[in-house]
Amino acid sequence: MIRCGVIFLFAFLINELNCISSNDSDVDLDSYQFIAKYGYQPEKRVVETEDGYLVTLFRLVGKGPPVLLAHGLADSSDSWLVLGPTMSLAYQLSDAGFDVWLYNSRGNRYSKGNTKRYTNKEYWDFTYEEMGTRDLPACIDHILKVTSREKISYVGFSQGTTIFFVMCSVKPEYNKKINHAVLLAPVAWTNSIEYPFISYLGRYLKFLIVLFDHFGIHEMFTENMRRKQQGIECYKTSSYCDLEYYLNFGVANFENLALDKIDVIDSHIPAGASTKTLAHFIQGYRNKQFQRFDYGLRKNLLLYSSIQPPDYDVSKVTVPLSLFVSESDRLSDISDVKILVPKLRNIKRYFEFNRTLDFTHIEFAYGRRVNEYINYPTLKILLEEIKNSDET
Ligand SMILES: *[C@@H]1O[C@H](CO)[C@@H](O)[C@H](O)[C@H]1NC(C)=O
Ligand SMILES: *[C@@H]1O[C@H](CO)[C@@H](O)[C@H](O)[C@H]1NC(C)=O
Repeated sequence: MIRCGVIFLFAFLINELNCISSNDSDVDLDSYQFIAKYGYQPEKRVVETEDGYLVTLFRLVGKGPPVLLAHGLADSSDSWLVLGPTMSLAYQLSDAGFDVWLYNSRGNRYSKGNTKRYTNKEYWDFTYEEMGTRDLPACIDHILKVTSREKISYVGFSQGTTIFFVMCSVKPEYNKKINHAVLLAPVAWTNSIEYPFISYLGRYLKFLIVLFDHFGIHEMFTENMRRKQQGIECYKTSSYCDLEYYLNFGVANFENLALDKIDVIDSHIPAGASTKTLAHFIQGYRNKQFQRFDYGLRKNLLLYSSIQPPDYDVSKVTVPLSLFVSESDRLSDISDVKILVPKLRNIKRYFEFNRTLDFTHIEFAYGRRVNEYINYPTLKILLEEIKNSDET
């Protein structure tokens, strides 16, 4: 939404689009091709959920313990691969012996199928609630079945943590299927997020939902085909780019992104999300609650037996957790994290990056410092946890 409208206007006002063709052949690769290109054994598996959605898992096949990686909002499994084997976590986990599985949320570029012949409107009628209560359980059960294991490890980034909290609180029986979870930039309460026009979006949310529904706008942040097809690189020089990243993710210092891969990153995000998912996050901002979707009085009563949508009870999350949080993150805001943390019962490690580091939201996946601050610590934690669980 922001991408198409305001930003575009700004772009023309402040800067010409300075586009040249990218030389990086990774620009056009999908997850399967990324895995194959760098010499790992790729696998693609399509899992059917209870409600007939077809969700795609990519795998870097390994003999070791399984780990599932879950991407952020409007992103995809590509986010764990685009920086290549020296800087992306999926390959590094594979190198360390893990059997690596990459989730794709319903509605993103890899997970658009369904078996129910849903109409367009019916298909897009989901939020992060369904990802947590239907996609993730189906994927986890699939992985456990294929690998004949009892538990997996989990790594989630941003929305990938939200859906984890949803799953473990709504379907607490899944807690025992996860050995350890590393949660990067956790998002549950969104009371203090900073996003362009968020206060207006919050205030007019109900009106906007009706409006978008009326115009049949059910999908947002769709993958940018123009950029993909032309392999366009607008990025190393353009302040249009800086501005877009700044507004969307609060990246003040552009140098903190993995700049040599910026065209590859940019050709892979966004990857699609439902309008309703965004509405659900904005509802959290508006109501200052981490709660189920608000359908209005009558449907709430029917669905939840209460007028107000119930809160997600995160005290039901019993999986041992390692949290990574940054003071400079505007989407996983530190004051929101401080509401979440006391309610979680099994935090084993907590890492907080101070403001001096200026570590912003997308740097958790796309920053030049990912190895030092995210990937190597994550590897160390998961290896330790696997070792501990073998010993007990
Ligand atoms: C791409 O390749 C061409 C020719 O090999 C070269 O002149 C150009 O500088 C390269 N561009 C970038 C951005 O590396
Ligand atoms: C912020 O974190 C960095 C890296 O951990 C550390 O070197 C620095 O001293 C910290 N600064 C403050 C003001 O705490």
